[in-house]
Amino acid sequence: MISPRRTFAIISHPDAGKTTLTEKLLYVGGAIHLAGEVKARGQNRRARSDWMKIEQQRGISVTSSVMTFEKDGITFNLLDTPGHEDFSEDTYRTLTAVDSAVMVIDAAKGIEPQTRKLFEVCRLRNVPIITFVNKVDREGRPVFELLDEIADMLQLDVCPMSWPIGMGGEFEGVKNLATGRISRPEGDSRTFQGTTDDRALPERFADEVELAQAGYAEFDGDRYRAGDLTPVYFGSALKDFGVADLIGALAEHAPPPRPQPADPAPVAPENPEVTGFVFKVQANMDPNHRDRIAFMRLCSGVFKRGMKLTPSGSGKAIAVHSPILFFAQAREVADEAYPGDIIGIPNHGTLRVGDTLSEKADVRFTGLPNFAPEILRRVVLKDPTKTKQLRKALDDMAEEGVTQVFYPEIGSNWIIGVVGQLQLEVLLSRLDAEYKVAAGLEPAPFDTARWVSAEEAGDLKNFTDLNRSAMAKDRDGNPVFLAKSSWEVGYVADRYPKVKFAATRER
Ligand code: G4P
Repeated sequence: MISPRRTFAIISHPDAGKTTLTEKLLYVGGAIHLAGEVKARGQNRRARSDWMKIEQQRGISVTSSVMTFEKDGITFNLLDTPGHEDFSEDTYRTLTAVDSAVMVIDAAKGIEPQTRKLFEVCRLRNVPIITFVNKVDREGRPVFELLDEIADMLQLDVCPMSWPIGMGGEFEGVKNLATGRISRPEGDSRTFQGTTDDRALPERFADEVELAQAGYAEFDGDRYRAGDLTPVYFGSALKDFGVADLIGALAEHAPPPRPQPADPAPVAPENPEVTGFVFKVQANMDPNHRDRIAFMRLCSGVFKRGMKLTPSGSGKAIAVHSPILFFAQAREVADEAYPGDIIGIPNHGTLRVGDTLSEKADVRFTGLPNFAPEILRRVVLKDPTKTKQLRKALDDMAEEGVTQVFYPEIGSNWIIGVVGQLQLEVLLSRLDAEYKVAAGLEPAPFDTARWVSAEEAGDLKNFTDLNRSAMAKDRDGNPVFLAKSSWEVGYVADRYPKVKFAATRER
């Protein structure tokens, strides 16, 4: 029998404790043996890859990865999302590949801007959320205030599933409201080492708990899975409180793989045909091999190694001989994978973000958009003999979905577009480190871009002919209108009512 799957992501504002919690989940899940391994692994990786220096300097994580662990007969696939807001596009795509999410909140800070943005993305796709209020071992805000803030800011019912007994210097443990057991801190480190009891609480906390149980919604699994209610767990990733409860909650309540939106009809996991979609492509994960890995979420069927799948992009079937599964310890070659699993497919640029892969090439997953870039820059090559290398590098990175590239109809100055400033630094750093291309960036005469289309080919041609100096092609050859401002987009759109100007393009 195949074990049930839980495919989820952790969303949070930087510094709330996502890395620490990830590490503890893997540790409790038995996937790593020493606390600290996630970071150690990270540093190892960083030492080998120059462009990741940016991660190191800024203390942020730029790449997403996938970690799989098994506990109590359930396979958990944890998809890591970059925390920095500049990478929201990448994060958005990763969130299309999960069935649920854990939202980590710092008990001293409550809902922060990035938490909120990511939550909105989850809501758009009806991704149910379990909340983990972290760092209760430190001084935090009053618990009722935190719960009310989550409810008010996110327009969501909250249901406390556990309760911190004091915070900071007064921290005496966490009470699980379902079992009544209290996890206690032990030793000098004041960590959780497995000691629980059901002693009565001091009056103040007993009153709080009673109030909380009367004052908030009761837990309802259906309402959680519909995205109307979030169960809230309190804990400390650093001191191991609440981590096992969180895994238990994911096992018990989080949805198994859900049907995925597709054309002509949503695809249910029970569908026997093997289908999946690529939500991320990462080049050069190991610079020694210059490999390129497409991350595919399997949506239906039982995938077997060597199987032939047809990507919607090229339409040419490929045999997947060495698919990779992502166990936390090492990348392992997969023989079989099931709906909800993520497999890495090594390839040389045939697979693109947004591609559907399927046996019969009769479906297409929908809802993986490209966003109109908010920053456009002209790429200036320092050594003119490297034009070919530059083009390859820009195409590669566009394929990964990290940056977008536009080739103007007139002139030879290629323009790149990004959603956030930091991506520009990543781009330059990778051009230099991976492609040995020295390049600089200059302001572009444009400020924004729109994909243009029209019902009648003639209308589009008329428009592009009359606006040639502002027209470019994207990586896939689609026509793009480059504008000096969003005001100009509005102005031009009024003058050409038969032309559609799109700020996102679904692939
Ligand atoms: P992130 O991935 O969300 O950005 O957060 P990360 O886990 O890196 O945690 C950010 C900081 O918060 C780290 O401290 C980490 O040790 C601390 N932290 C995480 N969880 C808890 C918790 O439950 N309680 C307390 N008290 N602290 C917690 P740092 O000093 O910035 O990093 P480090 O030098 O300890 O690695």
